Amino acid sequence: MHPRLLKRPLLACLLALLLLGSAAPAWAAFSLPPLPYAAEALEPVIDGTTMTIHHDRHHGAYVSNLNAQIKANPALAGLSLEALQSRIAAFPEAVRNNGGGHWNHSQFWAVMAPEGEGGAPSAELMAAISAGFGSLEEMQAQFNQAAAARFGSGWAWLIRRPGGELAITSTANQDNPLMDLPGIERGTPLLGLDVWEHAYYLQYQNRRPDYIKAWWSLVNWNEVNRRYGEAAAPTAA
Ligand SMILES: [Fe+2]
Repeated sequence: MHPRLLKRPLLACLLALLLLGSAAPAWAAFSLPPLPYAAEALEPVIDGTTMTIHHDRHHGAYVSNLNAQIKANPALAGLSLEALQSRIAAFPEAVRNNGGGHWNHSQFWAVMAPEGEGGAPSAELMAAISAGFGSLEEMQAQFNQAAAARFGSGWAWLIRRPGGELAITSTANQDNPLMDLPGIERGTPLLGLDVWEHAYYLQYQNRRPDYIKAWWSLVNWNEVNRRYGEAAAPTAA
């Protein structure tokens, strides 16, 4: 660097930032978010080995495959993960599978917490649950039914519809309620449960209903409350 620039540290910093920026790739690759707790922290409901394989290998593969798709489809570059979901119909199936897989698993880790640490539904969320289902227990029963009845692999969801009411839905494979696809009821996901066999098979084998029932003790209501508050907040004009 020119000696005169070194005497002007602010100018030198700006120049260095400009040089770094021009060398960066045209798009920022997605990255695997770390688990917000130890892999063993959800035991005995979900064992640490399942969590490690599920997060590191399955979710990790969705992220790396999605990044490969972005390289092959320049129109994807610059889209946020959320924006990608809402325009997924315009892209190849590999984008749908891996983009959905990345979004779905990112929310899955966040809506779980070690037993006893997840809090409880807020008064606002509880009021919406009571209005939509009659009670928390009835909402859980409908959610469990949707999760158990999902044939093959997929997800069960508690969503907030665009009109404000809550609903239970289910999607196949790595689809989710943000996607602009026929047959999917769209809304803001508040809570999503992974019912792929990779999520539970080591511990529960074919007993998916037992996994679903036990999973409720891991729900991070604090995060669900946050998501509901964000979805219900009036949008800025
Ligand atoms: Fe999964």
